[in-house]
Amino acid sequence: MANIKYFLGEQIPLEMHKVRIVQRLNLVPLERRLEAMKEAGNNTFLLFNKDIYLDMLTDSGVNAMSDQQLAAMMIVDDSYAGSATFTRLEDKLSDLFGMKHFLPVHQGRAAENLLSILMVEEGSIVPMNYHFTTTKAHIGVNGGTVLELFKDGALNPISDDPFKGDMDTDALKALIAKEGADKIPFVRIEAGTNLIGGQPVSMANYEAVSKISRENGIPFVVDASLLADNLHFIKTREEGYKNMSIREITRKIANTADIIYFSARKLGHVRGGGIITNNEALFKKLLGVLPLYEGFSTYGGMSVREMEAMVVGLEETMDEEMINQGPIFVEYMVNELVRLGVPVVTPPGGLGAHIDAMAFLPHVPQEEYRAGALASAMYIASGVRGMERGTISEEREADGSDHLAAVELLRLALPRRVFTLSQVKYTIDRIAWLYENRELIGGLKFYEEPKVLRFFFGKLEPTSDWQEKLVAKFRADFGDSL
Ligand code: F0G
Repeated sequence: MANIKYFLGEQIPLEMHKVRIVQRLNLVPLERRLEAMKEAGNNTFLLFNKDIYLDMLTDSGVNAMSDQQLAAMMIVDDSYAGSATFTRLEDKLSDLFGMKHFLPVHQGRAAENLLSILMVEEGSIVPMNYHFTTTKAHIGVNGGTVLELFKDGALNPISDDPFKGDMDTDALKALIAKEGADKIPFVRIEAGTNLIGGQPVSMANYEAVSKISRENGIPFVVDASLLADNLHFIKTREEGYKNMSIREITRKIANTADIIYFSARKLGHVRGGGIITNNEALFKKLLGVLPLYEGFSTYGGMSVREMEAMVVGLEETMDEEMINQGPIFVEYMVNELVRLGVPVVTPPGGLGAHIDAMAFLPHVPQEEYRAGALASAMYIASGVRGMERGTISEEREADGSDHLAAVELLRLALPRRVFTLSQVKYTIDRIAWLYENRELIGGLKFYEEPKVLRFFFGKLEPTSDWQEKLVAKFRADFGDSL
């Protein structure tokens, strides 16, 4: 995105790319959307693309790739072991992050699996700025507990704190003093807290958390899945980084970490993942389990084509004009929603716009899944698929009661370079209509509920006929509009 000042005043984002391959989209009629939502058990994960207009479920594995990435996929060195493609990727990671050892894995959670198997044991405590669903599940199945040490105000949807993703370093020191370093297999920072609105972490915080961890002999792990957004935010929001290149900021973050892992479905715009470290002993241990779960050490479950595209994607991540497209589109969407009075997480973060369902639907009991209900209503009203990030995304307590999430968000992800501004404007329009008609939206209840990561396959039904009423109001307001 270029820094452009407009003559006419309206400040809109301006893309620094052109679109040369397109995919046809459908906006199926309202009545079909209602039916599709019912078939999907009011779970947007269970919708099919044929019924979706704008897929804002996630950016994971669906960011637009560049011409250079596609071209790289044609020139690969394919072999089970020892491919030159692997060496190119290993060299690129070492060049950008300054780490010697690289273990490829098929996606981010596979890295979490390997690290948890090796490092977490019964009674372990893993402090982090905020949990991610798969991270918490892997630590949990290996007997550990996640402790979130987010700073004051991190959960306030309305804020002007530029780095709401920072960890509370006093709380970290107190935890180590209380529990002892032996109980803490690693300290984890997520480079942009996914579940509380893609909120970034400051360089000062990486450095402070790293210092405390190292002084206590505890490995410091950075989950770099959302690093691209975080790099942009450090450059644009943190004092002292305006004139530093993205490459320099990347290296500075990497220097604080003992282990970095990432989902390349986000970082690098492909489908895969990796773990990098300078720790020889840990690398050898990881190498021992890698072939069991992922594959040989030079592909780790990934296709060489994806790996070759990752080499290019990682290099492109060093380009501020590339990485800022996501956050600047998100900023546009969030600012418009704020202007319209719609409750949305501020300041704008990475990943997408996060609608605050807690404030949007105060009349729906939290036990009836406010964010899930809003995701369902949003799809029906617009054909836009978002993702529930609230109580449905939590696991039940040991006694079977629901663990009510601290925040109830409807995430509308904006994969990089995928949607146009008119599509974003359409989405804003439909959110504004829903907000105007929010009283019509009711709750949901489970009728099929898996035990682990229930948000993926669980099915819910409305607690009343509110969806039919919403459809009737849409018809009354919009006539025969799709
Ligand atoms: N860590 C973070 C911060 C993530 O956002 C994700 C995935 C993972 C780890 C796991 O990576 O999916 O490749 O196994 N986030 C996706 C999302 C699923 O939609 O935000 P994965």
